[in-house]
Order: sequence, then structure tokens, then C-alpha cells
Amino acid sequence: MSDIQKEIDQLTDMLLSWQHDYYIEARPSATDAEYDRAFDRLRILEEENPRFRRPDSPTLRVGSDLSSDLPEVSHTVPVLSLDKAYTAEEVISWAGKTSANIDASLDIVVEEKIDGASIVLYYENGILTRGVTRGNGSVGNDVTHNIRTIPSIPLRLSEAVDIAVRGEIYLPLEAFSRINAEQEIPYANPRNLAAGTLRRKKSSEAAGVPLNIFIYEGFFPEGAARNFSGHHELLGFLRHLGFRVNPRLGFFGPRADRDISLEGFDIVSGPLKDLGTYVDSMTALRQNLGYEIDGLVIKVDELDVRDRLGYTGHHPRWAIAYKFDSPEAVSTVIAVDVQVGRTGRITPVARIEPVLIGGSTVSNVTLHNQQYIDLLELAPGDQVAVSKRGDVIPAVERVIEKGDTSLPVWQMPESCPSCGSVLNQRGAHLFCENRRCPDQVQGRINFFVGRDQMDIDNLGSETAAVLVREGKIRGAEDLYTLKAEDLEGLPGFGEKKIALILKGIEASKSRPYQRVLASLGIPDLGQKAAELLIEAGYGNIDSLLAAAEAGETEKLSEIHGMGEKTAASILESMRDPENLRQISLLRDAGLNFEAEEESGENGLAAIFAGQVWCVTGSFEAFKPRSLAMEEVKKRGGRAVGSITGSVTHLLAGEGAGSKLAKAEKLGITVVNEAEFLKILEET
Ligand code: IVH
Repeated sequence: MSDIQKEIDQLTDMLLSWQHDYYIEARPSATDAEYDRAFDRLRILEEENPRFRRPDSPTLRVGSDLSSDLPEVSHTVPVLSLDKAYTAEEVISWAGKTSANIDASLDIVVEEKIDGASIVLYYENGILTRGVTRGNGSVGNDVTHNIRTIPSIPLRLSEAVDIAVRGEIYLPLEAFSRINAEQEIPYANPRNLAAGTLRRKKSSEAAGVPLNIFIYEGFFPEGAARNFSGHHELLGFLRHLGFRVNPRLGFFGPRADRDISLEGFDIVSGPLKDLGTYVDSMTALRQNLGYEIDGLVIKVDELDVRDRLGYTGHHPRWAIAYKFDSPEAVSTVIAVDVQVGRTGRITPVARIEPVLIGGSTVSNVTLHNQQYIDLLELAPGDQVAVSKRGDVIPAVERVIEKGDTSLPVWQMPESCPSCGSVLNQRGAHLFCENRRCPDQVQGRINFFVGRDQMDIDNLGSETAAVLVREGKIRGAEDLYTLKAEDLEGLPGFGEKKIALILKGIEASKSRPYQRVLASLGIPDLGQKAAELLIEAGYGNIDSLLAAAEAGETEKLSEIHGMGEKTAASILESMRDPENLRQISLLRDAGLNFEAEEESGENGLAAIFAGQVWCVTGSFEAFKPRSLAMEEVKKRGGRAVGSITGSVTHLLAGEGAGSKLAKAEKLGITVVNEAEFLKILEET
């Protein structure tokens, strides 16, 4: 075998195994950059030596996410992939060459390249009939059952058209971190979690993951073509049909001189020479999007020019993908440490030789849990590849070279490094169950005083650490009984500093209830959940404690945005004796355990805040009955026209009928006109 044939053979095997890990296991074993480099190398070698190309070469397909577990269907539109560029210069030179090819100047549209799972949605007569993964480009997996659970995908379009659209399903970063923290083996990135979710057998499981979509191409069946002059107009039409289209667009070329503004879009436009600057500015913007993009897609706008340019075997000539480089660096693991979080969760962290990745120095990288370490087969001394995926959280991608081959894979300790208690496995993680564990105590206090919680001035984590170490405080509640003489004589605590600390603590007593509630460090009860609870009528701690005592999980989980698991977990914590003790002490100290009643601009007290009123029948004082609805809204309530699970009150007028019966069946509070007028009068 010649050297070239050998290399082709090796590259083919390696790429096939990477494809399997990526598409079938949804757990990549190579980075995008590594994959692309190997793929490009293989393509060049095969082009120069076609006789060595293997019949199973990955270059013969667009890449496949096919899995035999889900029904396979053929695509009726070509589902091609894109050629790639890695620098802004390559993009500009591509635009130049393309324009020379057709001997005319081009208009270019620039879209974000969403890093998610590619999907094709088929609509007949405006009704969603099928959602199919890209698969190998001609056959994909039918995932319609999961597609239907995504709220931003319309089931019916605004016009009864036959159309197929392509888009990218993705998971917002915030949801990714939240869900990934609960995974047995964390997903490497949001794309894998999105792709994994799409392939679930049970759509109820997919429904729990807040997937979203951007649609970026549309295809009409032959003969039904529409007359759009350009891609941007097609995007406008897709939006009109009800699709979620990314509003951020770049538009460069001669037509940009004229007005190309499009309703609902945020278009940056300019002459072609501005394209490079735009690429740079989008590269900087990608950090702030709330979802991951792995590049930009540069497309010819004019649809007739697209037709003239046509396709190569596996990509259109009228578009190119500009891929951001995903920063990666090589470093050595000095040691693996374990951290004890405020909830007692034990997290292994790799201390690595500091390296510069994507503009910042990284020296600590989370390893999540034992399973993650087992997958990496990692031990101290190993040389590792560290990436900053999505430019946010650094991750160990893989071991490049073992340091000491005689060392076993690193193992979690059996006891807590802070207090020595035996650790307990709960789900994917180990926990220290000792509430008095010094690291946990410290963690809870740091959390409580932190900027996003009680935000206590002049009391940072270092000062708090001294107070814990010196035995001055054992919980946040102890802060409020501290006196100046307790602090005198502590190392570094002068008179002035002491006065400032006490002033900060005193001032924190006026933080609103929502903050106080979220600062208790109760699992699942952050600012968002606190806000939802208050809005839903749990405006003080007593109402919440009563709900906990009565076990009102079901009622709580009806609050829009709060799941059943969260509701159950919050209520369970509200019955925990330690938490009850802390709440009572903090309340004695004078913290806010009641939300201030919002009185709207109209000066009326928000007596209906958190309530949902359905109004039905006819009234003496309210003609039309929408006037009664106005009264509800003016006082902070929501008014609706039908009985659903979220309705708390029914205002029943003359001839209330079926709604009254339904409300009674559901146990909804029913109020008649006289009672309603009385409530309004009294407030
Ligand atoms: S256009 C023929 N536009 O990137 C048109 N693709 O290789 C091909 N992608 O498989 C696609 N955002 O899954 C296009 N705004 C965008 C995109 C986008 C993400 C994905 C898509 C495709 C891959 C390109």
C-alpha cells in the first residue's frame, strides 16, 4: 500500500468513527476544527488520487445523523451542506470570485450560523405534516412527534401554502446550563443536547426541554414558485407565514443603497467592501446572543443569480459558511481538587498549567463528576486539550498524552474534604449531607451576601470567610445579631471597617421580599421562581409555608413557568426544620418577608395581583362586561374569557351557564356581581 493510500485509509476510518460518535451517540470525540481539517485533507487527497477513494468514504455523503431507531423518510427537497471559509479574507475572495463568475455585481445576505440541529419542516395546505432531520441529505429521521412540542414552530401557517422550510433547532444557553447540571453525563454543548432531545422516543421528554428554532430557507413545490426578487424578501414572507426567522441580517452590495428595510428585521447594510467589518463585528457580538452560533452564512440574495450559479455535488455555489475558530489550547493537569458547594454538592476541578484560550487565561476547569472523568480517562499529569466552547465555560475535551501511564484514572474521595463526612451519591453527583460542613456554611453565606442576592455592602466573601473561621457566624441569620464588640480585635478589622460592615448589614434589611426569598439558597428557588410565586399570589412567606404544610404541589405547578419538580422541591424545602428555623430568625431580625403591594399608576391597590378572573354572563353595573374585566386589570389581576386550569376566580353574572358549572366542578371561587362590587368598594 502506498503512503497516500494508507493516509486515505486512516483518515477514512477516523472520520467514520468520529461521525458515529457525533451523530449516533450525540457525544463528539473530536472538535469541529479537527473534524473539518481531517475532512478537508481527505477530500484533497481523494481528488488527487480518485482510485484510492473508499466506497464508504465520508466525503461521499453530506454527513449523516441517521439512526435506525426512528422511522426513515426521504426528503423531497435537496438538503445540502455548505462549503466553508475560515477567515474574513476567504469570504471576501469568495464573493469576488462568485461575482466574476456571473459577470455582475452581487447582493449578499449574511445570516448567523446557528449551532444546533438541522431540520426540514414540511407543510401541506399550511398544516405541519412532518419534521425530518437532515440525515444523510436524501433520507432523514422522522421526528414530527418531538417537533410538535416546540412552541415556536407553527402547526398552521397564516396562508394555506405547500412549502418545505429548513431551519436550525437550538437550545438557549441559559436552559442548557440549567438542564445540563442535572445530567448523569453532561453534554459537551447545547447542540448535542438539542440533537439528543430531537431523537427522544417519547415526546413528553422532549417537551421538558425548551428548544427553539430559526428558519432560514424555504422551498415551494415545482410549479408553485413565488416571485421574490431576493432571499431577504423570502425571509420576510416566511416571517409573515408565522415562522420564527432570525431578525439579525447583514445586507451588502449595490442594492443596499436603496432602502431594503424589512418589517420585523434588524438589517445592517452597506457596500460590499463593508462585509469584512461586519464579519468582525458579528464575531464580537456572538458572546451576547444567549444562544450559540458557530459562524456566519453568506448567501447570494438574488434568487435568479442563485439558479445560474447552481450546485456542486454537495453544496450550493451561491452560499458559503464562515466558521469561527473554536479556541482550544493544550495544557497539563497539575492536580484534581474537589469543591464543596453550598448545597453540599461535590465537584471535581482540574487545576491546569495556566494557558491563554480565546483571550483569557484559564487555570481551573470543571470536570463535573466521576462519570465525566471516567469518559476522559483522566489522571493528574496528563496532557489535555482544553477548549472554550461557545466562548464561555472552559472544558477538558480529551487527553492528548498520558503523563504517568501507571497512574489509575482519578477517583472521587469517599469523604468530604471539608468536614470528613461520608459522601452520598444522589443522581449524577456526590453530596456531603452535613449542613454544618464548614465549606457549605461558607458557601451559603457567600451566596446570601452576594451581589445578585442580598448584596450586602462592605461584606465580601473574604470578610465573610474570616467571620466563619473565627466562629462569629454559623449562618446568614447570625449576621443580624452581630455587634461592634463581637468584631473588635479580629485581624484587619479596624473601627472604621467594623462600622461599615454593620451599616451594610443594617441596610440589607430593606431588600424586597423577592430578594430575601431567593437569597435563602433553597434549591430551585432563585430570583425567577421567587418572582413567579409572588406574581401568582404567594406574596408573603406565610402563604408559602401554608402551601408547604398543605402539600399544594399541584396548585404551585400550575403557575405558568414552574414545573412540577420545581414546585415539589420548593415545598419540600419549606418544610425542612433547618430552613424554618432560619426563616424565623431572619424574620425576627426584621427582614422583609412580605411583598409590597403593587399599586398601579391608577393609585388602586393591587388586590387582584396573581389572580386570574374569568368574567361571564351579563351585569347591571358593567355594560358591556369588559368593563368588569377592566376593574380586575386595574387592580393587578388578569382577566380572561374562558375557564382554564389557571383561572382562580369566576365573576358570574346573569345567565352564566356552562362556565359556571365548569368552574364549580373545578373548585374555582365564584363571585356574583354584588359581592364583586363590595370588594371594589372596600379597597
Ligand atoms: S443555509 C443550501 N443558513 O449549517 C443551504 N444553514 O453546512 C444550506 N445552518 O446544515 C444551509 N444556520 O444546518 C444555512 N442561517 C443558516 C444556518 C445554516 C445554521 C446550518 C445548517 C447546515 C449547516 C451548513
